Amino acid sequence: MKRLVIGAWQWIDDRLGIADLVGPAAKHLVPRDARWWYTFGSATMVAFIVQVVTGVALSFSYVSSSSQAYETLQFITNQAPFGNFLRGLHYFGASAMVLMVGAHMAQTFLFGAYKFPREMNWTTGVLLLAFTLVMGFTGQLLRWDQNATWSVVVAAEQAGRVPLIGDWLAQFLLGGATIGGATLSRFFAIHVFLVPALMFVFIALHLWLVLRHGISEPPVAGKPVHPETYRKEYHEMLEKTGVPFWPDGAWRDFVVGTLLIVAIALLAIIFGPPALDKPPDPSILQADPRPDWYLLWYFAVLALIPAALEGYVMILAPAVIGILLLVVPILNNRGERAASRRPWSIAVVLLSVIMIGSLWIAGARSPWSPNFDPQPLTPKIIGATSGPVFEGARLFQEKACLNCHLIEGHGGRRGPDLTWVGDRLTHGDIVIRIVNGGVNMPAFGKSLKPEELAKITAFLESRKQPVP
Ligand code: HEC
Repeated sequence: MKRLVIGAWQWIDDRLGIADLVGPAAKHLVPRDARWWYTFGSATMVAFIVQVVTGVALSFSYVSSSSQAYETLQFITNQAPFGNFLRGLHYFGASAMVLMVGAHMAQTFLFGAYKFPREMNWTTGVLLLAFTLVMGFTGQLLRWDQNATWSVVVAAEQAGRVPLIGDWLAQFLLGGATIGGATLSRFFAIHVFLVPALMFVFIALHLWLVLRHGISEPPVAGKPVHPETYRKEYHEMLEKTGVPFWPDGAWRDFVVGTLLIVAIALLAIIFGPPALDKPPDPSILQADPRPDWYLLWYFAVLALIPAALEGYVMILAPAVIGILLLVVPILNNRGERAASRRPWSIAVVLLSVIMIGSLWIAGARSPWSPNFDPQPLTPKIIGATSGPVFEGARLFQEKACLNCHLIEGHGGRRGPDLTWVGDRLTHGDIVIRIVNGGVNMPAFGKSLKPEELAKITAFLESRKQPVP
């Protein structure tokens, strides 16, 4: 029996050459001190595999048609066996992948691992980061709920403001002039065919480069990279103190990968997938679409900058960041690797974390979006219990003005605080603004009766700071 198994294996291996392929890769020497810090890359790959497996499983039941996508997702979530768990795995797998890519990048950057001869390891890694983010964005749209469809509409609207290529870009995003069946098909194709195919190719290339150039040794201050001598020194070091990747290095990757899968599964069980929003209904204006957490910070950037700049920032900021990341190893591929000798590298990582972190918090709070459940105005705030001012205040709430405007801390923050607007604006200013609207304020000229307009204006004119 044993002979038979060994014989069969030998036959298969002889014909396929598996050992010749895997053997050298498994046994290749790695620096002895490449320890836990080096596990983020393989952890990213583990998360990617989780995404491929759960993604394929989800696609068994998902129908990418705008009339059925939402229903099939509800079926997956509520009826299919383990469907809810599966969606949870796919969601937290995506989150894990974004986090691990970030950690992997920060680590290779701080260790100067992108320097000679590993420049292209970094470059392919930057492309993989971009693909990961595109997957995140397109994936959340496949939910095709109210939030997703409005995210696309808002994205397309913003894309349309981009100078020169705006119209073309908006058309490309929507798959036509307006949102519809073609839009979803397009995002589906990008999410399950185009970008995953690119990712497989670039992951293979990335891994090939890791084998070709070897894993970088932990940096030592005072020991700079000289391209002329680096390779020779690296190989001498490996021969003297290197250890085989399997099993000496690989067990740590195995431990971290397993922990990551356990964490993803636990989160999926405890929290489950993001709840589906209401079904898409283009006739309901949803003023507050928001992306999943890993893109929330970018959404915050777009919401915080002046509207006139949005079109530029939306395309230029990612392009500039992308180009900066791509040229890092071209500008700087030699010299010291240790972070202690490159204090600016620590500053760059810290600043990026702080910036993304605070934008993320801003995005999570999003004071700029309307408050759909504002605290009603009290008679004390209104300062009257009957008459035009009182009725104006009531209309101010009924017509949803309060959702965007603050009156003594009650209401939303989308528009200016109107607590003391009577001091700032004249009767004419107020009427013109209400009738014509403004940037991010709808025009109410058609939806208010003249007497309603008069009452609201009376209320706003009464908003004067009391003179002590
Ligand atoms: C969707 C959010 C939104 C709603 C709803 C809304 N507004 Fe506004 N409002 C804004 C924004 C944003 C501005 C600033 C516009 C600009 O500067 O172009 C603004 C500006 C104003 C101003 C001028 C304030 C100033 O300090 O210049 C007044 C007055 C005003 N709104 C009254 C109203 C009234 C009355 C209603 C209800 C009938 C209303 N708004 C509904 C968002 C909103």
